[in-house]
Amino acid sequence: MSQRRQFLSQFAALPFVLNVNNRQFSDEKVVLPSKNKKDFFINQYVYANKEYANLNCASAGIVPEYVLNNFQKAILEYNVKSPYKAWDDWQEERSYLKKELGVFIGAKASEIAFVRNTTEAIDTILFGLNFEKGDEVIIGKYDYPFLTGTLKQLSKRKGIKIIELDFHPEEISEEEIIAKYANAITNRTKLIAVTHITHRESHLMPVEQITQLAHNQNVRVLVDGAHTLGNIKIDIHKINCDFYTSCFHKAFGSVLGSGLLFIKEAQIKNVYPLHAFGFSEPDAIEKFENLGTRPFYNELAIQQAFKFLQWFGQSNKLELLQNLNNAFYKRLKKKANFKFEEPITVTGNQSIRLIGINKGRMIKRLKEEYNYILKSTGYPKHSFLRLSPHPGISKKQMEKLAEIIAKIAD
Ligand SMILES: Cc1ncc(COP(=O)(O)O)c(C=O)c1O
Repeated sequence: MSQRRQFLSQFAALPFVLNVNNRQFSDEKVVLPSKNKKDFFINQYVYANKEYANLNCASAGIVPEYVLNNFQKAILEYNVKSPYKAWDDWQEERSYLKKELGVFIGAKASEIAFVRNTTEAIDTILFGLNFEKGDEVIIGKYDYPFLTGTLKQLSKRKGIKIIELDFHPEEISEEEIIAKYANAITNRTKLIAVTHITHRESHLMPVEQITQLAHNQNVRVLVDGAHTLGNIKIDIHKINCDFYTSCFHKAFGSVLGSGLLFIKEAQIKNVYPLHAFGFSEPDAIEKFENLGTRPFYNELAIQQAFKFLQWFGQSNKLELLQNLNNAFYKRLKKKANFKFEEPITVTGNQSIRLIGINKGRMIKRLKEEYNYILKSTGYPKHSFLRLSPHPGISKKQMEKLAEIIAKIAD
């Protein structure tokens, strides 16, 4: 028996079943151990290390083997079923999943729609709201370019006005950030779109305070939470935003092509769905899921990924990733001869601003000579190295990376 199989077989007799409100998820045959959880959890990601160390999991995450195996089974099963039967068979589990997920993210099941990715969730809101010529939408320059792109199209087609706030969030205080948004609101403002964790800086934005000030002026708020789900604890009802968008294929650990759209109950009727079939119930969240035939098993994978994450604990996972990021930073501080800014490592993603270093060339060498993949991102003359490891990366790999970077940059 291989070492790996031996390792797994020792847990075979220790059943774990996620049992919330006395109800079980559908794959009771699969066993997750109740002891040595950390080793088991980490080992579920190690398969991804075969060719290179992937430290760009903020672009798309690594799916744990447990989820992947169940996903493969579901693909086989669902592709031989009649699509209608597949859909019908999934309905009961689906509403249960939404309910449990709602508890996890602070939302009602009736406010959650499953879509294909964050982009689709964002576009559903932006294309679905009834904007008129001259309406203003406030964004920040650190928001994701797809969101900005959709708004640019709306500006051309409908004559909306984009107010883009221009500042670096890591350079000013939270109060100053909030004031920037407050000062940009006019009587034409219809929406503020704000990113929860920015993709370049990995900066956690004060979305709750921004929502509050927006609501005081009757302005709705859309939060782009692509990097939060499965990474940090979120409570959407506490944030109190009108729209929250995210995906399951980054930190959450599910497969590519699964997104989350939250719409506050009172707002559902104000948003047109992208695909209009079945628009007879304007108050029902399901109107945003009228996509026709699609890979239903992607939703089954959300269920598995959720079970896996809950089993280990999201905060335990975050701690693991923070420790990896800290190990890198500590070693870099010791070895580097160049200037860099201290990151605010509150999440599993960390962006470090290296001053005066050609990051493009560095990223290329890291990939081609040392088998590390990470992301160089930012703005002209203000760029970052973004590290977003998965749990199967070791502390040693992180420290070695810091040493290589220190050496390359010299
Ligand atoms: C902040 C942010 N928003 C939106 C997206 C788009 O996400 P998706 O690929 O789920 O559509 C990304 C992708 O990385 C992102 O970083």
